[in-house]
Amino acid sequence: AKNVGILAMEIYFPPTCVQQEALEAHDGASKGKYTIGLGQDCMAFCTEVEDVISMSLTAVTSLLGKYKIDPKQIGRLEVGSETVIDKSKSIKTFLMQIFEKCGNTDIEGVDSTNACYGGTAALFNCVNWVESSSWDGRYGLAVCTDSAVYAEGPARPTGGAAAIAMLVGPDAPIAFESKFRGSHMSHAYDFYKPNLASEYPVVDGKLSQTCYLMALDTCYKYFCHKYEKLEGKQFSLSDADYVVFHSPYNKLVQKSFARLLFNDFLRNASSVDDIVKEKLGPFSTLSGDESYQSRDLEKVSQQVSKPLYEAKVQPTTLIPKQVGNMYTASLYAAFASLIHNKHTELAGKRVILFSYGSGLTATMFSLRLHEGQHPFSLSNIATVMNIAGKLKSRHEFPPEKFVETMKLMEHRYGAKDFVTSKDCSLLSSGTYYLTEVDSMYRRFYAKK
Ligand code: ACO
Repeated sequence: AKNVGILAMEIYFPPTCVQQEALEAHDGASKGKYTIGLGQDCMAFCTEVEDVISMSLTAVTSLLGKYKIDPKQIGRLEVGSETVIDKSKSIKTFLMQIFEKCGNTDIEGVDSTNACYGGTAALFNCVNWVESSSWDGRYGLAVCTDSAVYAEGPARPTGGAAAIAMLVGPDAPIAFESKFRGSHMSHAYDFYKPNLASEYPVVDGKLSQTCYLMALDTCYKYFCHKYEKLEGKQFSLSDADYVVFHSPYNKLVQKSFARLLFNDFLRNASSVDDIVKEKLGPFSTLSGDESYQSRDLEKVSQQVSKPLYEAKVQPTTLIPKQVGNMYTASLYAAFASLIHNKHTELAGKRVILFSYGSGLTATMFSLRLHEGQHPFSLSNIATVMNIAGKLKSRHEFPPEKFVETMKLMEHRYGAKDFVTSKDCSLLSSGTYYLTEVDSMYRRFYAKK
């Protein structure tokens, strides 16, 4: 199979959201801390009728319907998620309800979990399968689904929720350059979920930021090595038309891109002009550790990278800023933003993606885009995702109601023997929602 990659995409996020500006005031944070300091506009969250299973049921059903894919044509289904609803039964098995109905139970794949990286693992498994000798000619389907919620405190405004489904096959408009990949995996306690009675993570915010940037540096180094070995020339940011980052909050994305430019500066790469060289010069002797701590470097590198950031990164930031951190779906929501904003001018372009999951696992990889053929074309993907429409039809909750919802969800997490309000009035038609968890913890869903 040639040009294996993403043929089609669909995204779903809850229609319920809270404005960061309102949350900021409600939390007693200084004005601008969430909006400018973190760079976030709005945050989506699940109410008691939605969860990672209902969101992924919605995304998968919608993808199959809108691209007219016969469920029998799916041969592999992989789910990435870090939202634990069941310690044994995979989310994938819930999604099998869609396929069983059509007589297709011959579908490989289960769930992948490591913080925000699971979606990338799921996607790679699908791509690798289509490229392998065990491929049976059918499509792969990778699904990322998460509800990111934090305890009250500084991390709370970095929540979010979404599910993304990606159809994988040959001759894709979004093709993997599979040889160009750099990974960095190591043991860290930056963000983890050891308390199985709570949905909330334990998080060392500052450490997680440094771990993220160190992983970015290392992945970029390996990525460049591989590129140079295969292409016989140096890689620089000039060889990437767009760079997409896992986005816990936008400020970290700004810092990350600045960090890549700093890497190019240290490597004496072609993306760095004389002005940038001069400005970054004073930082060339910093040790690795010092460079992560230097506020001056952070400030200057962000400043000099701004024009390139506007061109190569800004078009990827819409959904992450509007919806928040969607954990496994975050990176792909950023990529979906790019398709939404630029689909008419993406043919022939190279996009570099950086996936990060705390704990920690990270990979940088490369995609080459083509216009493709209907229904698997960039323009049709943009139409199907209807991102502007979905963002516009949301319902803003006041912070008090958001906090109240979080309290109810804490109560419901791991609980049994309850029925939900079944209130689906805010959901658009075709959306799945949770109706009941019975005395055996079995979950039941309905479709609006
Ligand atoms: N106006 C403008 N900017 C402000 C204001 C204000 N009034 N107040 C603060 N800021 C800025 C700060 O200067 C800082 O920006 P800088 O880093 O560029 O200096 C930014 O806002 C954040 O302020 P901090 O004081 O650093 O925020 P705090 O420590 O309270 O929380 C954190 C931030 C650590 C990111 C927290 O939200 C968190 O723990 N989030 C979850 C962890 C996370 O997402 N980690 C990322 C990788 S791992 C993952 O994906 C889960």
